[in-house]
Amino acid sequence: MKLIVSKDYAEMCQKVARLFAAQITLKPASVLGLATGSTPVGMYAELVTKYKEGRLDFSAVRTVNLDEYVGLTGDNDQSYRYFMNHNLFDLVNIDKANTHVPNGMAADPAAECAAYDQVVESMGGVDIQLLGIGNNGHIGFNEPCGHFPVDTHLVDLTESTITANARFFATMDEVPRQALTMGIGTIMKAKKVVLMASGKAKAQIIRDTMFGPVTPNVPASVLQLHPDALVFVDEEAYSVIAAEK
Ligand code: F6R
Repeated sequence: MKLIVSKDYAEMCQKVARLFAAQITLKPASVLGLATGSTPVGMYAELVTKYKEGRLDFSAVRTVNLDEYVGLTGDNDQSYRYFMNHNLFDLVNIDKANTHVPNGMAADPAAECAAYDQVVESMGGVDIQLLGIGNNGHIGFNEPCGHFPVDTHLVDLTESTITANARFFATMDEVPRQALTMGIGTIMKAKKVVLMASGKAKAQIIRDTMFGPVTPNVPASVLQLHPDALVFVDEEAYSVIAAEK
């Protein structure tokens, strides 16, 4: 695991965007594993800028997203499909047929999850996987629990995640309680993993992820075992580690 500290959020986004741009340039048909949430928004904006400047071509790029809320359609502005369209896919020359987000409206979630794993497999796995991290250490929506789930699965979101997600919804009742998420096994199979964290609220969990025990109680801690995992933080997210030095 390598830690890259940036002075602020903007600098962190520029660095991560450069990494993704290099990946796409070197391998135009790359499979990008993508995340939603507030953390990657600035990184996607940097990629869009590079595209608009003519420095990046998404025409052969393929993507798989980590997760989707159960019960939200793709045109619901809180769905992760909507987020991806709005922050990246609609703004670059990607072929939407090459973009994949789990279907949160699937009548048979187990079949949808199995089909999603097949999609990832059929593309030859993920070249570079972007991750945010929950305050409780979740990656994707792999919540702290007694084991590391391997495959894409239906998950009951924890109270801590529901509370954190509530900021995007008008009322507490609207916040989804379940999601479909890629499993830890699929994330760990990605050739390269890039985790981003910004702000003081993430400082303790970043410390536990990198220097605590590898345990499913802190799902992101499994990344200590990945051969090519990069952790990008700003100074605030680095502050607990810095204080221990
Ligand atoms: C989103 C996802 C989540 C978020 C995490 C952090 O696709 O998989 O694990 O990355 O909840 O969210 P933010 O960035 O909003 O703090």
